[in-house]
Amino acid sequence: MTESTKNNNRRKVLIGMTAAFGAAGIPFAATPFIAAWNPSAKAKALGAAVKVDISKIEEGQIVQVAWRKQPVFVLRHTKSSISSLPSVETKLADPNSLAIDEPYRDLYPTRSKSDEFSILAGVCTHLGCSPKYHPEVEPKPWDATWTGGFFCPCHGSMFDIVGRVFKGVPAPTNLKVPPHNFQGSILTIGEDKEIT
Ligand code: FES
Repeated sequence: MTESTKNNNRRKVLIGMTAAFGAAGIPFAATPFIAAWNPSAKAKALGAAVKVDISKIEEGQIVQVAWRKQPVFVLRHTKSSISSLPSVETKLADPNSLAIDEPYRDLYPTRSKSDEFSILAGVCTHLGCSPKYHPEVEPKPWDATWTGGFFCPCHGSMFDIVGRVFKGVPAPTNLKVPPHNFQGSILTIGEDKEIT
């Protein structure tokens, strides 16, 4: 096995572990933290917040977690992908998310409360399929000038790497950004305010 194959395998395992952590809640968090977060049965029924340890997500990686029974993408950008965002804007239907209720408008190009992570509802705004992450900058069957982003295989909608919808596709709006906050390496999805 080559060193590159080993690294790839290690990365896949890491993604799996991180995803399981996010989906399951907070099994690996420190004890005081668990004690501070103890949602009631009613809160759980309404879709209690989900905590994700983001410390092991590498640049360019994506992790999918479940919140309110729907997928949420947690994506850590590379510096080059962030700096390339302006170049894709001519392809976008709503680059500034003016058509939707954008919770963190103008904070960062990521559309989140972080300058390097995007937190996106993994639900296509057309008919609800889950778009696939294609970070490669290379010609794709659906776009010969693809610069990375999300492609919905159901009816061909395209979104850039921060979930902004392309012009001329079935999806009417950008992917939604769920409420969230960051406390150190813990991302909480479903709560906007920091818990002290
Ligand atoms: S559900 Fe995504 S394009 Fe139709």
